[in-house]
Amino acid sequence: MNSVLVASNRGPVSFTVSDDGVLTMKRGGGGLVSGLSGVAKDNGVLWVCAALSDADRDAVRLAPGGRLDQAGYDTGALRMLDIAPATFHRAYNAVANSTLWFVNHLLYDIPNAPCFGTRFRREWESYRDYNGAFARALAEEAGHQARVLVQDYHLTLTPAMLRAERPDLRVAHFSHTPWAPPEYFSLLPDEVTREVLEGVLGADHAGFLTWRWAEAFMDCCEALLKAYVDRGSRTVTYEGRTTRVGVHALGVDGEALRARACEPDVESHMAAIRREVGERRLIVRIDRTELSKNIVRGLMAYQEFLAAHPEWHGRVTHLAFAYPSRHDLPEYREYTAAVQRCAQEIENQYATEDWDPLILNVNDDYPRSLAAYRLADVLLVNPIRDGMNLVAKEGPILSPACALVLSREAGAAAELGSDALVVNPYDVTETADALHEALTMPHEERVRRGANLKAAATALPPQKWLADQLAALY
Ligand code: G6P
Repeated sequence: MNSVLVASNRGPVSFTVSDDGVLTMKRGGGGLVSGLSGVAKDNGVLWVCAALSDADRDAVRLAPGGRLDQAGYDTGALRMLDIAPATFHRAYNAVANSTLWFVNHLLYDIPNAPCFGTRFRREWESYRDYNGAFARALAEEAGHQARVLVQDYHLTLTPAMLRAERPDLRVAHFSHTPWAPPEYFSLLPDEVTREVLEGVLGADHAGFLTWRWAEAFMDCCEALLKAYVDRGSRTVTYEGRTTRVGVHALGVDGEALRARACEPDVESHMAAIRREVGERRLIVRIDRTELSKNIVRGLMAYQEFLAAHPEWHGRVTHLAFAYPSRHDLPEYREYTAAVQRCAQEIENQYATEDWDPLILNVNDDYPRSLAAYRLADVLLVNPIRDGMNLVAKEGPILSPACALVLSREAGAAAELGSDALVVNPYDVTETADALHEALTMPHEERVRRGANLKAAATALPPQKWLADQLAALY
């Protein structure tokens, strides 16, 4: 029986299967996983996650009780859940990613979406079943009075379900995303609004990355559930139970990141990038191709910058890494196409025989990303809305004289704002001006700001984040 458990949709590893049936394991991606992977393994935590693909399911079926560590994989204690594919797809794609993600990042094109009909009600049933599968697995694995850390918008119902089965447990829920204000959150059908809020309030502790998101959650509880919110003690009392609300910002383990970024594969990518761009200044962005990351407006800002500053033609290159993400959703496929169209337009307009103004890369390559961070003169992070954004924190750790252009809507702005060039992510002209200001910022100023950014980025490493959350479950 385990005394500390973590539950999240995506686990620390995923599998691929070759034509001859051989399974290969690789590390998972995304903010939550990068934050938790190292620490969970070192602290003997049992991690419960979902199988995301057929290859994952194959691996689970070969592991006793879904315990991949017991099947000989070096994963740390890990149980992967084989949830029926149709249920998983409705829960993950239709509800978590197309609905809850859209609500909390304010992504809807309101005149047309959302539209909640009977189909959505079926999808919602699947989301319930999927959350129930996690609650059951956690109830099975948890020792008496164990502490359970439930992660993110995929698993908002699990805390209440788990409490119903195992009232002895101490449960925390943590949101890695923003939280929407009540007037936007209430786009959801009323019964869904209630279930999500009640689900999270099933936890003893509800954690967020910044005060802004925590406040929005409390506002929703007050306005939409009529719960009693005590702002002073930061608690929400509903139907006789009290949930504490806490803020645990997530930073980066600077030493581990630096060590990884000095390995030979990264160095050889650095050499390759230098061969390609010469000594030109580099504006870098690294994102999943994700609607909330605002890549198209970022490219438009670069285009405006080039239009306004012909003196930079031939002297700067924009490296834009936009890695594939959530391609089962049509909105994401269309967005990827829009990114490619915009990039093509810049090429057509500005490229010359010996100058490539933009290098867009859409294939995931971690060592190449680390190489780009190390070479960056300017890092562009301009999300529409973001729970935290670890790219904004990783960059300054690896490039000490890099200027950061940062959206005020990223959670990271709360910690990094005073040393970044902060922009309104919808204002393309302001972003273009910030790119220019970043490129022309005197070296000493970049170094001074860079040192502050780096200190802020490493102040709350994942070890501390995990320890704080556990401490909150006294
Ligand atoms: C965000 C979420 C994480 C998620 C990541 C990647 O950072 O907060 O929970 O793991 O996106 O998304 P994906 O759908 O690929 O797991």
